Amino acid sequence: MTVWIGTSWKMNKTLGEACAYADGLAATPVPAGVQAFVLPPLTALAAVRDRLAATPEVLLGAQNAHFAEEGASTGEVSMRMVKDAGARLVEIGHAERRREFGETDRTVARKARAALDHGLLPLLCVGEPREVRDRGEAAARRFVVDQLRAGTSLLAPAEVDRVLVAYEPVWAIGAGGRPATPAEVTPVMAAVRRALAELAAGGRCRAVLYGGSVDLDNAAELLAQPPVDGLFVGRAAWRLDGFRALLRVGAGTLVR
Ligand code: PGA
Repeated sequence: MTVWIGTSWKMNKTLGEACAYADGLAATPVPAGVQAFVLPPLTALAAVRDRLAATPEVLLGAQNAHFAEEGASTGEVSMRMVKDAGARLVEIGHAERRREFGETDRTVARKARAALDHGLLPLLCVGEPREVRDRGEAAARRFVVDQLRAGTSLLAPAEVDRVLVAYEPVWAIGAGGRPATPAEVTPVMAAVRRALAELAAGGRCRAVLYGGSVDLDNAAELLAQPPVDGLFVGRAAWRLDGFRALLRVGAGTLVR
């Protein structure tokens, strides 16, 4: 069994700050059984790759990339470019990108397609907004499964089992968010797993992670829920000591 523990630094860290974090991470053994991943800002991706050259057990990724191969898309970078800069994984469809930059299920699907075309592991983010959750758990389940189906709609079944999924309820993310309780998380993530089992060849799914206000107080309890294969963390892992502590929590889950 593998426990996934990853962090996106979002729009944080200068080159110097990113390198200091990466150097510290390179000096920290990742516990056995834990798959760590880090998504730096694009400006620091190549430098972090170089700092982690001797630490291949930490997967590096990008927080976003365009679906097109290349072209006149000012301010964007392609899958090929992020791969060239060191990404092995690419985050797709985070709630902040959907909200701030109008990413739709259609663009998310095209990005998942492009990621796999370039040999990148897509980390597909899904999650219901607060007003959907307010209509009840069944509404949340339907919304999230619909997002998942749409996001994987350009993939063949044999490709769906290569997709990592992060369930991140929008109301749980960020400074104004409240962490979802295990009782709120479990039924939706179980529904995600069922949907993946239908969509993927052989009913396999790579891993389904939870994200949204994860911290040291709730990490172990969330990881103890059977549908949860790992955690995707923002603020609580922006400092290296926070990330290290969460890696230890992940390892602790394995020995229980
Ligand atoms: P947060 O971010 O841990 O700071 O709530 C989570 C995320 O957006 O993935």
